Amino acid sequence: MSTVQNYIDENIKTFEEELFRFLRIPSVSTDSKHKADVKKAAVFLANQLNEIGLDKVTMHDTPGHPIITAEKCEHNDKPTVLIYGHYDVQPSDPDELWKTPPFEPTVKEGRVYARGASDDKGQSFTHIKSVQAFLKTGTKLPVNVKYILEGEEEIGSPNLVPFIKNNKELLACDMVLISDTAMFDENQPSITYGLRGLAYMEIHITGPNRDLHSGIFGGAVENPANVLCEIIAALKDKDGVVQIPGFYDDVEPLSPEMREAYKALPFNEEEYKRSLDLKTLHGEKGYSTLERSSARPTLDVNGLWSGYQGEGAKTVLPAKASAKVSMRLVPGQDPDKISKLFAAHVQSMAPDTVTVDVVSHHGGYPIVIDLDFYGLKAAAKAFEDIYDTEVLFSREGGSIPIVADFKKVLGVNSILMGFGITRDALHSPNESFSLKDFHRGIKTSARFFEVLSDFVDT
Ligand code: BES
Ligand code: ZN
Repeated sequence: MSTVQNYIDENIKTFEEELFRFLRIPSVSTDSKHKADVKKAAVFLANQLNEIGLDKVTMHDTPGHPIITAEKCEHNDKPTVLIYGHYDVQPSDPDELWKTPPFEPTVKEGRVYARGASDDKGQSFTHIKSVQAFLKTGTKLPVNVKYILEGEEEIGSPNLVPFIKNNKELLACDMVLISDTAMFDENQPSITYGLRGLAYMEIHITGPNRDLHSGIFGGAVENPANVLCEIIAALKDKDGVVQIPGFYDDVEPLSPEMREAYKALPFNEEEYKRSLDLKTLHGEKGYSTLERSSARPTLDVNGLWSGYQGEGAKTVLPAKASAKVSMRLVPGQDPDKISKLFAAHVQSMAPDTVTVDVVSHHGGYPIVIDLDFYGLKAAAKAFEDIYDTEVLFSREGGSIPIVADFKKVLGVNSILMGFGITRDALHSPNESFSLKDFHRGIKTSARFFEVLSDFVDT
């Protein structure tokens, strides 16, 4: 085994301890109460990058959370890999459903439980430890590496897009390397070559000027909660088809080859149902579960609130009702256009007994990466060398909107080298990450730099 791989094996316990320190910082980007914690996580990373010996480690202030860049570029004739990761995490709520505290990393059966363990602290940290292994063993890095680490991915990266537009030179590279997705299954590494886009909306319905007695006023005054339910119910039909006019107009149909590729994936639907305690699955008619969850557009209510939520009964006709709705988008669809279609359709259903406001939050474009891209081939070889098994190529339903911007602004492809698995429970209570995959992830990352360098020679 190489010096670099040996160094990783010998230091894995220290790497785990460092990851746990990172996980103890509650860097929840959406919650202003945690602004100082998000900064703390940025400082932690900047210190790491400095300690391992990278050049030009810089923390860039933004109107939101900081962006960190760094690099080690010592070759003229080798590719430059830009490593992207995010150090912000989702909120931990509902906290009562966590078996161990979300910001006190706890190891059970080889997995570390904490918010951000997989998404994305554990996964992105692999690419810092892999580079450390080269630099600390005095082994020249086989390729040039640059880093861009942000603290706003979970809120739609509002400051990253302007940053990359203004810093094209600093970020110039041949490809982006990202570990923020999932492998196909445990012990089944895969490279994600497609991600869905996103349009995130909020609906607010306002009725009377105060909450009313539902006996005194019920029957005479429109109920905003009832209106909200009617509007939401009409957004999709029973077959899971979205009813917004124009929603599917630009959707690129799945090619017969793509559908065959989906069929060939070793997906176990029974196991999938079991893992979610479900008897039956649901989705757009005419498509398989994998197609529906990664290559077809969707619409889902993400949050819903109105009226009395406390214990027991309170007879009230609520003055307001609101919902958050996300739409996952596929190639061809434009998030701005879809947001406008959504708003117009919701307004067209609004009765004149209430006021309906529709607000658009963040969005992002979908992406599909060309399977012929040599970076993907190098990544597959690295995975195969470390996991000792064949790699699959799959598309995923989640979104990392910046991937489309890297393509548009920097003109480069991304390699989505996920080390997580669906069982990691991203965004859910009891998020976790396998320490074995943390270890294998670091080794795969290191191996990738070697393979990529060799690819260019041959
Ligand atoms: N890591 C996820 C994205 C992901 C997860 C992609 C699993 C593929 C498989 C990322 O942190 C995330 O949650 N993204 C958001 C994007 C949004 C906030 C703009 C998402 O998908 O909801
Ligand atoms: Zn996430």
